[in-house]
Amino acid sequence: MTGSPTPDLMAVSAVSEQLAATEGRGTGAILNSYSRSVMNTFGLPKRVFVRGEGCNVWDVEGRKHLDLLSGLAVNALGHAHPTVLSAITGQIATLGHVSNFFATPSQVALAERLTALVAGDSGVEARVFFANSGTEANEAAFKITRRTGKTKIISTEGSFHGRSMGALAVTHNPKYREPFEPLPGDVEFIPYGDVEALRNAVDDQTAAVVLEPIQGENGIVVPPDGYLSAAREITTAAGALLWIDEVQTGMGRTGRWLDSSRESIVPNVVTLAKGLGNGFPIGACLALGPAAALLGPGSHGSTFGGNPVAAIAGLAVIAVIERDHLLDNAIAMGDRLAANVAALDHPLIDHVRGRGLLRGIVLTEDVAAAVSDAALDAGFIINAPRPNVLRIAPPLIITADQIDSFTEALPTLLSALQPAQDTAQGEHA
Ligand SMILES: Cc1ncc(COP(=O)(O)O)c(C=O)c1O
Repeated sequence: MTGSPTPDLMAVSAVSEQLAATEGRGTGAILNSYSRSVMNTFGLPKRVFVRGEGCNVWDVEGRKHLDLLSGLAVNALGHAHPTVLSAITGQIATLGHVSNFFATPSQVALAERLTALVAGDSGVEARVFFANSGTEANEAAFKITRRTGKTKIISTEGSFHGRSMGALAVTHNPKYREPFEPLPGDVEFIPYGDVEALRNAVDDQTAAVVLEPIQGENGIVVPPDGYLSAAREITTAAGALLWIDEVQTGMGRTGRWLDSSRESIVPNVVTLAKGLGNGFPIGACLALGPAAALLGPGSHGSTFGGNPVAAIAGLAVIAVIERDHLLDNAIAMGDRLAANVAALDHPLIDHVRGRGLLRGIVLTEDVAAAVSDAALDAGFIINAPRPNVLRIAPPLIITADQIDSFTEALPTLLSALQPAQDTAQGEHA
């Protein structure tokens, strides 16, 4: 090896040929191979996608789909966004990775942006631990709670925080938990949105309360107004940490950088991932005030966490959301979706819930998986986190025409149903 910057064209073309050969096999053969070579944690995929641009993705058969799910609330700027592309290719061409023995400017710049974002104008000092996913961000948060010297954590029914052993320990769904018990911790689950239950559960033995501002995986469940500020008041009084999981709701998805900022609270811990890297894997666990000092040298780490390419993706996402006023667009387009759906006045639609571009269309029957399948056949990507809820979480760049194309198609999708044997499609988070 000479270290020459000239690409080895033969090796590049060998990789391209391998990809072209895989694509050339078509959906059926690729999925056959998938089912033999990839662990069956997600069930059999329904499409093989090869290309994306803006809010659209194309499958291997050349069919175009409007991506109303953004890779599960990830592609905030849509696919192949030129600014993200230029930032990450520039960074990887310059410096793609160093160990955490060293710092990089992009990592530090993103740390400054994120800490400013979570601290707001509170004046509280914040620090970040960079991870590679939402699960890992929550794992770091879990370890922070242990450093309080207490072990009791209060989580909520319907919550989802990830599937590593620590993140799973604070995730409620028994189907995910039970096969892996015993899980770490002293975790108690209380009804979500219930202030009195929270008040009764939290005491001076409580290390932390962990809450999502909206429960995304549980079907876009919105707590009553004032829930987070009550949680702030209750945890402060008990000397417990308030850990807010903004993995799905954060980074502009609901029309704010952090959905929890609606209630003007300053949490002790905030976790982010999904939209932060627009598809480049990155997670962040931010801690504020004394909690920011609870992890010290050797108490946590990650080889890839804080990688400069992932960090610059985060910087690019924040810059474009600001420049293109995408928080405003998220609110306007989310409201448009809700108004359009309400105007359909369809007997199978009960109501629309959520905020900004994190929306659940609640159906009157358990037919969401069938509607989601019909939508996919019609070229719209959505999912069914619960048997009666459709999740819509499109890129924040979505246009009015794109929203309207879906809501105009919705009555046809609903009328094409087979109501029997519906199941939720919540396995992909
Ligand atoms: C609120 C919340 N927390 C954590 C996670 C886990 O994130 P990841 O899949 O990036 O590990 C998810 C994923 O859906 C989530 O919605």
